[in-house]
Amino acid sequence: MTKHRNKEYGQEWFERLQQIARGSLQHPTTPPLAFPHPLDLPPSSGGELRKMKKFRFQLLHRWLVEHFEPCRAADIGGGKGLLAYLLQESGWETAVIDPTYQSLPDKYKDITLNRRVRIPATARVRHITKPFDSQMGQRFDLLIGMHAHGSMAKIIDAAAEYGCGFVLFPCCVIDEPFFPPIGVSWLESVADYAVRKGQAIYPFRLNFKGQNIGLCEIGKRAQIRNNDLFPST
Ligand SMILES: C[S@@+](CC[C@H](N)C(=O)[O-])C[C@H]1O[C@@H](n2cnc3c(N)ncnc32)[C@H](O)[C@@H]1O
Repeated sequence: MTKHRNKEYGQEWFERLQQIARGSLQHPTTPPLAFPHPLDLPPSSGGELRKMKKFRFQLLHRWLVEHFEPCRAADIGGGKGLLAYLLQESGWETAVIDPTYQSLPDKYKDITLNRRVRIPATARVRHITKPFDSQMGQRFDLLIGMHAHGSMAKIIDAAAEYGCGFVLFPCCVIDEPFFPPIGVSWLESVADYAVRKGQAIYPFRLNFKGQNIGLCEIGKRAQIRNNDLFPST
C-alpha cells in the first residue's frame, strides 16, 4: 500500500502527468484533442489561491459545474456525500457509490459566499451501498473518484467499455488489481492505465491539501460547457 498523506504534489509531478496525457492524445482510438485543452478555463477567482487549502468537495464541485453541463454523475467512494449533494443542488443527477453508508454532514462552508450553510435534516442523496463495479458505469455520464479506494482501475474500465467520462484523484493503492512498479507513483500508474485503455486523459489541479492532481476524461455522453473552446478537428 502506498500512501501520500499531506504530500505536496508539485509542478514536476504535474508535468509528468501532462507528458503521459499527451501520449494519450496520439492513441489511435482517441479523438485528436490539443493543448490548450477545452478544460483550460481561467479559474473563477484567482485571488483566492492562497486561502483554499481545504474544502476539496467545494473546489471540485465548482470545477465540475464550471466545466460540465449537469449530467448523471456517480461519486464513487463518495463518503458522506457532500460532493453529490452540492452537485444535486446545482441540478445534476447524482449518486454516491460506496460500500460504507455515511449520512450527509449537517453543514458545510460555502466558499463563494464565505459562510457556513446548513444542510436540511430532510436532505438526501441517492446512495448505492455497494463496492463499485465497472458495469455500474453504464447508468452514468461521469464517474467521479475523489481519493476513492478499490475503484480507480474499475472506473477506467467502465469508461473504456461504456464511454462514460471520469474525474479521478488517485490517492492510495487499496484493493486495486495492480500495483505501480518500484519508482513509479500510483498517480502515474493510473494515468498510464487509462492511456493504455485508449482514454484521452487531461490532468488538472485544484488548490487543496493532499493529492490534488485530477485526471479527467470527458467521455462520450457528458457535455462540456463553452463548446466554442473545443478544437474543431
Ligand atoms: C479515503 S475515503 C475517500 C472519501 C471521499 N471521497 C473523500 O475524498 O473524502 C475512501 C472511500 O472509498 C470507499 N470505498 C472503499 N472500497 C470501495 C469500493 N470497492 N468501491 C467504492 N468505494 C469504496 C470507502 O468506504 C471510503 O468512503
